[in-house]
Amino acid sequence: MLSLKRRIAIGDTAPPPADWAAEFGRRAPLEVDLGCGRGAFVLERARLLPGTDFLALEARRKWIAHLREEITRHALPNLRAVWCDLQQDLPDLFPPGSVTGFTILHPDPWWKKRHHKRRLVQLETVGLLAALLRPGGWLYFQTDVPALADEATAAFGAHPVFAPLDAEHFLAEELGGVLSHRGRRCARQGIPVTRLAFRRLPGEAP
Ligand SMILES: C[S@@+](CC[C@H](N)C(=O)[O-])C[C@H]1O[C@@H](n2cnc3c(N)ncnc32)[C@H](O)[C@@H]1O
Repeated sequence: MLSLKRRIAIGDTAPPPADWAAEFGRRAPLEVDLGCGRGAFVLERARLLPGTDFLALEARRKWIAHLREEITRHALPNLRAVWCDLQQDLPDLFPPGSVTGFTILHPDPWWKKRHHKRRLVQLETVGLLAALLRPGGWLYFQTDVPALADEATAAFGAHPVFAPLDAEHFLAEELGGVLSHRGRRCARQGIPVTRLAFRRLPGEAP
């Protein structure tokens, strides 16, 4: 994908504001869905929680276009869809300490060994997510790929500012049991899913 600067220059994406509160026109909790796909999860969350602002981040333009149509159709002023490559753009999208919660739902497995570096949850990404979250914020991760579950458990577990939470309880109580497109399919077909949830503790992200 082109760099964020280049995409902004050719009008393919709006410049991310340094301050999303200014973009939404209010100061509200900010939840970010990383790799939202067609956006079923974030649309439902935004409908259920009008007092929270949501960002849906996704590399495939067709899903961003679809989601923007849904945002208009449902008149959701608290949701924006941003076309981006998380691996290159994530540091530029938010000021540190500004995000209330991240969701990572069924990230791509990138099966081939030479593609493993494209996996979303890696030690560097975990450090970056820790820096972007506000203290007391949270991160929820879900996958049906056992290797990704192991990697995420190790990467978040190695990071001192992430304290594990009861993920089943978090999904039911904090996320209202809302599932993504892939999450619904796993539930329908009885595919086992690993869920992880963490609280971002106060203190510097090393
Ligand atoms: C398996 S799908 C899951 C979609 C959705 N979260 C769900 O649970 O149904 C993974 C999504 O992550 C997106 N994705 C993968 N790598 C990405 C990246 N570097 N930046 C942004 N999105 C990415 C893919 O385009 C795809 O839509």
